[in-house]
Amino acid sequence: GLPPACDFTVFGGTGDLALRKLLPALYLRDREGQLPADTRIVGVSRSDHDQAAYREEVRAALLEHVDADRLDDAALDRMLARLHHVTLDVNGSEGWHELHGLLKDRARHEDTVRVFYLAVAPGLFGSICRRLDEIGAADANARVVVEKPVGHDLASAQAVNDAVGEVFEESQIFRIDHYLGKESVQNLLVTRFANTFLEPLWNSHWVDHVQITVAESLGVGDRGGYYDHAGALRDMVQNHLLQLLCLVAMEPPTYVGGETVRDEKLKVLQALKPMTPADVDRDTVRGRYDAGLVGGAAVASYADDLGHDQSDTETFVALKAEVHNWRWAGVPFYLRTGKRLDRRTSEIVVVFKEPPHAMFPHSEGGSTPNRLHIQVQPDEGMRLHLTAKEPGPGGIRLRPVSLDLSYATAFAQASPDAYERLLMDVIKGNPTLFMRRDEVEAAWAWVEPILTRWAASPDRPRRYPAGTTGPIAAATLLERDGRTWQESD
Ligand code: BG6
Repeated sequence: GLPPACDFTVFGGTGDLALRKLLPALYLRDREGQLPADTRIVGVSRSDHDQAAYREEVRAALLEHVDADRLDDAALDRMLARLHHVTLDVNGSEGWHELHGLLKDRARHEDTVRVFYLAVAPGLFGSICRRLDEIGAADANARVVVEKPVGHDLASAQAVNDAVGEVFEESQIFRIDHYLGKESVQNLLVTRFANTFLEPLWNSHWVDHVQITVAESLGVGDRGGYYDHAGALRDMVQNHLLQLLCLVAMEPPTYVGGETVRDEKLKVLQALKPMTPADVDRDTVRGRYDAGLVGGAAVASYADDLGHDQSDTETFVALKAEVHNWRWAGVPFYLRTGKRLDRRTSEIVVVFKEPPHAMFPHSEGGSTPNRLHIQVQPDEGMRLHLTAKEPGPGGIRLRPVSLDLSYATAFAQASPDAYERLLMDVIKGNPTLFMRRDEVEAAWAWVEPILTRWAASPDRPRRYPAGTTGPIAAATLLERDGRTWQESD
């Protein structure tokens, strides 16, 4: 349930994430009356804003990033009145005293929940936690939220987790993967486990393979400094795509809550078949965008976005993963993600096997295998592809048809942003939709051999023109297995 009061402190309080996502999400929950009545929001940054200047900056950000029909003066004023700003350089000594004074205000309720959202580089997580401990702010009422990437590889992820873990208990640490907060991603669990018709088919007897695509039309924008150090495998596959894979592949938990879902996801990560260098060469494709046309507009190459051509960072990955367990033996999971592709779409397609016997002789219209297409974003929904008889007197002709579920049509209310759900979960202390330490590390353990082989391999990322579906080799990866990527129409 909701605590009586909350002090929500954001390190990186004037940064992009805070202004674009976190503060708008808090505003929207506040507008619905869902924040604890006595909530303060403390932005921490190096800028020498006073409170008034910070409120102005946040007001401008809300006007820009919140839909116009959800902006109203009363809610804006209430939200802005909650804001404080503390000027503080994380590595310096100034400002901590002021933060301490604010948080230890005697007038605060003794059960005030203190959230520390670390929207800063992971290299700073450890030292911030230590300082919070020194000022006495890291007690049992405190929760710390860390953004991905947690680390750069397995060893650095362990080091970050150790450093944060020295100060906070695992139950106080909320590692965000915002994909888990998306409505359609949570609905995956409901689709699988609150219905009877899918589960008997959800295994290697009936599923031919699974495809997971997270495509973006945007390029790296002004995040080149971070991105070039990361690349698509670290930025997207290690977290978002593997989390989606886990939710598709996991066993039913006994109930949804507490640790059960995380326990089952961990088992999937541990069952991923480790890749040898030969597997990496055969089953992964790296790409990097060249200049091209996206939605009719000319866009620059990755090198031009970055400002130099010294980089081998991948902006696209396609790979074939296998879950080595009883349910999924022999069922490939094909994953792909990339920037500057032809469109923005995230989707999961479960492709079922052909019926055991083809009994319709003249099926020129073609019988195509059943597919369940889960549209994660945009236009959330689900489509079940079936084969039907085309109406007509002249015998049986088969035609592909689909059953469509669109969230926008089925439900009157719009889906909240992922951060709205996740920030409320932190305030309420509900960890289910956050990544546990062992999950993050298991994901790194699987990804690392790919990084290692790529670094040693003479191959470079393959070029693809912006505005396409990525390098040809990504198509070949499936064609080799007699399959094709299912592009939604
Ligand atoms: C972030 C990545 O985690 O997810 C970005 O760092 C990416 O590179 C973003 O653009 C995609 O999120 P969404 O919600 O727009 O699909």
